[in-house]
Amino acid sequence: MAEMIGKPETMRKAQEELDSVVGKEEIVDESHIGKLPYLEALVKETLRLHPPVPLLLPRYPTTTCNIGGYIIPKGTKVFINVWSIHRDPAVWENPLEFKPERFLSGMSKLDYYGNNFNFIPFGSGRRICVGITLVEKMSLYILATMLHCFDWSSPDGTKLDLVEKFGIVLKKEKQLVVIPTARPSCAKLREFEYKRTAETNRTVLSVYICYSDMSEVSHAWSWYQNEESQRMALTFFFILSTIIFILYLKSEMTKGVPGLPPGPRGLPLVGYLPFLRSDLHSCFADLARIFGPVMMIKLGSRQCLILSSPEAAKEVLRDHDATFANHDMTVAGSIITFGGQDMVFQPYGPLWRALRKASVRELLNARTLDSFRTLRQQEVTLMAKELQRRAGMPVAVGQMVFVTSFNVITAMLWGNWLVAAKLERIRVEFREVVVGIVDLLGVTNVSDIFPILERMDLQGVQHKEKLDGVLSTVIDQRERTVNTHGDQEKAQDFLRVGEEGRSP
Ligand code: HEM
Repeated sequence: MAEMIGKPETMRKAQEELDSVVGKEEIVDESHIGKLPYLEALVKETLRLHPPVPLLLPRYPTTTCNIGGYIIPKGTKVFINVWSIHRDPAVWENPLEFKPERFLSGMSKLDYYGNNFNFIPFGSGRRICVGITLVEKMSLYILATMLHCFDWSSPDGTKLDLVEKFGIVLKKEKQLVVIPTARPSCAKLREFEYKRTAETNRTVLSVYICYSDMSEVSHAWSWYQNEESQRMALTFFFILSTIIFILYLKSEMTKGVPGLPPGPRGLPLVGYLPFLRSDLHSCFADLARIFGPVMMIKLGSRQCLILSSPEAAKEVLRDHDATFANHDMTVAGSIITFGGQDMVFQPYGPLWRALRKASVRELLNARTLDSFRTLRQQEVTLMAKELQRRAGMPVAVGQMVFVTSFNVITAMLWGNWLVAAKLERIRVEFREVVVGIVDLLGVTNVSDIFPILERMDLQGVQHKEKLDGVLSTVIDQRERTVNTHGDQEKAQDFLRVGEEGRSP
């Protein structure tokens, strides 16, 4: 949205396409989505310039191997700088320009399914994102509705700030506040009433509360930006100062190991960590300009490989896919997922295969996703109605889209079978926990640098306890509903698929 407001002709082109395919006074339906190539190009161009997961999810090789002619020791943490690949002038013409048209002409066949290493916002290989189809459906539908129902402008016509804040998920540093103005199709929104009125009203209310109240959780990549971690680390440094000196001497003796990729030298014990900026993706891109697209950096006690070219990404994600088929886990991630008992951190093996198969075949296939079509329509229309109510006023549009997507995903996860009041309370709690966890996973905690302090990762423990609390409430409520109303009352949602998977 910020890019389109900065380049109004892109918004106009998308609206012209929508007017001709949907009709000026009609409402967008999911069936229109496949007929909107310019809108699709807009989404692709946004994923190119602002990939939501800029360094993908770090991986590690299970055996020592060779990448780009260099030796990569087993266990090295591997970052693939997609943000930098997507801005590589060797691949993209005028890479910093927001130009959706590039996906209609020269790059028209380029998709995001991981086949072309110039464009990999969802990763590639066997660990590629499992949610692509859902994201595709949601993002195109939400954007189409927003552009067809409203014109968008910045408050006071000021230029919008596009500065990003690094985390495992890239966000705008300042939240995007823009003004919607109703277009003709907006009038049609009044015709939309839903049967689940009580719940719907609740949802509108909570969406509104959330837009005004939800505060940004701050990111910090570097351990020293966290006060608690800083105190702990300083004490640790003081006690071990003599050992540091010995380690330094040792590192001086072993430096320049032949065969390892080049990279900047760091300090003993903490490596290059104190010199990193908080915008890690662009800091890595700057270093890659000096040391090359295959670069090694020591961060704390870990050797890290940073890859910044499509060729290097291809070597890891295609040529050596099996060796790099594990996502690297932070201490907080391990605590939250009971030691990697989820799909993202599950080591490559039979359990991961079973989880992946269940997700693809049972949960995220075309038939199941289609069965939630009405639900998506309800949530997106509720968002549009809320925007209509606030037309002419500044709106935090990013949060609105986040809440709408979140409502759709939670309804798919556990259905709409909870009574309205409980559903809303649980949704808000779950949303807060998830935002906290995503932020936490983007941070390197002191326990990641000094594994000896793993047990002191209090943040990870707190988030796990909150997550357990919310999920236990959902499962308890589900069991009570089933006991009271019997099987026929069960909603067709992901939790049900899970229950059926467990039953003998
Ligand atoms: C714009 C939204 C999203 C982006 C950009 C995104 C991106 C990614 C990336 C880069 C990875 C790592 C891929 C790799 O290592 O090669 C990933 C993994 C994953 N994503 Fe997404 N994702 C998004 C939304 C979703 C959604 C909505 C879901 C769930 C429905 C989801 C579920 C997963 C899972 C389960 C994995 C781990 C797969 C595995 O380890 O086998 N993602 N995603």
